[in-house]
Order: sequence, then C-alpha cells, then structure tokens
Amino acid sequence: MTGIVLRDVTKDFGDVRVLKTLNLEIEPGEFLVFLGPSGCGKTTTMRIIAGLERASAGEILVDGVNVNALPARERDMAMVFQNYGLYPHMTVAENIGYPLRLRKVPPADRARQVREAAEQVHLDPYLERRPRELSGGQRQRVALARAIVRRPTVFLMDEPLSNLDAKLRVRMRAELHRLHHDLGITTVYVTHDQIEAITLATRVAVMNDGRVVQLGTPEEIYNDPAEQFVASFVGTPEINLIEGHLSDGVFEGNDIRLEGFDTADEARVRLGIRPHLLEVCDPAAGVAHGQVYSAEYGGDTTYVTVSMGTKLLTVLAPPQQTFEVDSTVGLAMRSADCFLFDARTGSRIRERRAS
Ligand SMILES: Nc1ncnc2c1ncn2[C@@H]1O[C@H](COP(=O)(O)OP(=O)(O)O)[C@@H](O)[C@H]1O
Ligand SMILES: [Mg+2]
Repeated sequence: MTGIVLRDVTKDFGDVRVLKTLNLEIEPGEFLVFLGPSGCGKTTTMRIIAGLERASAGEILVDGVNVNALPARERDMAMVFQNYGLYPHMTVAENIGYPLRLRKVPPADRARQVREAAEQVHLDPYLERRPRELSGGQRQRVALARAIVRRPTVFLMDEPLSNLDAKLRVRMRAELHRLHHDLGITTVYVTHDQIEAITLATRVAVMNDGRVVQLGTPEEIYNDPAEQFVASFVGTPEINLIEGHLSDGVFEGNDIRLEGFDTADEARVRLGIRPHLLEVCDPAAGVAHGQVYSAEYGGDTTYVTVSMGTKLLTVLAPPQQTFEVDSTVGLAMRSADCFLFDARTGSRIRERRAS
C-alpha cells in the first residue's frame, strides 16, 4: 500500500496562484477525498499527484520518494474521470483489457483478469457489448474495471459519479466503498458533493480557494468543523447561521437569547445550529421566536422553515408534529449543540472564558 505526501506544494497558472502551499499526508490504503466548491483547486491537485501537471514549488513524495520529475506513465496510478474515456469501437472486454494489452500480457491471462475485474463491478454479462450499448452507470463501471485490471498502487478518481443520475450515484457509491474494502488500494477522490465525500472517505480534505481548510475523518468534519465555511459546506439541509453577540456566556441576537456558553466575550459572533438539532416548540418554552413560513412533508421528517426577522431557519421536525403557517412559534436548542464563529473571519470560536 502506497502513501503520498504533498509538501509545500503551490501551483501558479500565469500570475494566478491556484494552490497555496498545500501540505498533506495521504496514508497508505486510505480513501482520501478532496471536497470543495468548483474552482478551488481539486482537479489541479489531483493532476499534480498523477504527474499530468508540474507543481510550481514543493515536493510530491510517493512512499517517501520524490516523484516531481517522474512522468505520469511511470507513476503506476490509475485514473477514473467523469467522462469515462472509453474507446467506442472496442467491446467492454477490449476496453477493460486494453492496459493489459499494452503490457503484452498473454491473451489467456488477459481474458481471465478481464473477467475477474468485470465480476468485481458486475459487468460480466456485458463483456461483448460496445460502450454505446451501455447505460451511464455501466460505462462508468467499465472505466473502473479498466483501472482495476492494472492493479495500480493508487487510484485517482476525479468526480467519477457526476454524470450519473441520483439513484445510480448512490448505488455506485456503495460499489466504490466495497471495492476499496476488497482491494485496499490507496484512493484519492475528488468531488464537490459533500454527501459523496462523507460517505466514501476515510478522511476528507476540505478545500477552499486553493487551500486545505480542514483535514479530518467524516465525523470530525461534520461534528467539529474548523470554520464556518466547512460547517456550511457539509451537511444537508445546510446549517442555520444566526448573528448576535456573546457576553457572560449568553448569546443574544434579535429574537434569540441562549445561555450556557463558556467561550470568551465577543462583540460579533455567528451561531451555527444544524436543522435536526432545532426544535419547534411552544412560544413560552423557546429560547428563540419566529413565525412558521412553510412546512413541507418529507415522509420521515417534515422540513419546516421558520422566519426570524429577515432570516429563514430550517428545522427538521418529526412527521407527527403539525404546523400552522404564519403562527408564532418558539425554537428550542441546546448551547452544547451550537457552534460559534467569529462573524468577521468565520473562524471557530473555541477558547474558554476565564472563570
Ligand atoms: N490549465 C489551466 N490554465 C489556467 N488556469 C487553470 C488551468 N487549470 C485550472 N485553472 C484554474 O485553476 C483554478 C482551479 O481549478 P481546478 O483545479 O480545475 O478546480 P476544481 O477541480 O476544484 O473545480 C480555477 O480557477 C481554474 O480556472
Ligand atoms: Mg475539477
């Protein structure tokens, strides 16, 4: 199993610095996901790891060896992209076996390895078809099988599921999970989809504007975000953010007063609370107040929007609770469930109040 280290990696395109001093260790055998909005530098980072792009500065180490000057074809990494890259005139079997043919693997061995890889992604009934006779999900699986037969030291995947419909994406996610479990090959995966990231990753590197802003397990990223950007980017529906100030352990804003914080006083803070940790209650029992703006039935949950001043908050409520539009309601929440962010910088406020 192969480990990869990025040390002080920067990348400039012309005079634009798109990667700003990346430092990251990808552990042998892990499934590391780069997650971030479009344009933050995910693909560029992956291309540098693959050797398709040179870093402007810094080092890329593979198993401790500097590979900066090593061309892509000598890095033994297999890539899977969003647009499959299949040869349309070849059958599924020929597409999968292509890397083996390049390596001059004898036909009988090749056929066996192709069959094994095809079985691993449930393509064995389709070996004689051409790509145009396959669905999007099947094509993506051909691309995967072609990567598998190579037995590479590293899988690199750039938004491989983006072209699939929602249902197929969920299915393929499970397949990728299983594949990583079975093969144990170090995998670097790029996506802007936070659900994909937290479901697949052993660790997530959240990127914004050319930097890794947080590296952690999916649980750490979700439950202990380093900054407001991470808290907002991860989690659906999106976390609620409420402006206010903090003094003597009390958060106060328009229509909200919540006690129980042990962080230092701050003039301007933003409180973050996830929709499933908010509760709509009787106005007398609430620490915050607002009006029901809408309530949408969602099967096992009701999505309630509550207006608080000009702000709309999202609450996930149990399906048996009923709501009357425009009625005044209370909101209950616990300080322990809230995150506090510096309203100017977005950084997490953690330091304790002097007692
Ligand atoms: N070959 C290139 N020439 C100039 N700018 C580029 C090139 N490739 C990427 N960029 C720019 O670098 C930034 C990061 O791009 P990219 O790594 O593709 O982001 P992501 O994959 O996160 O969407 C973007 O602003 C993009 O426009
Ligand atoms: Mg990209």
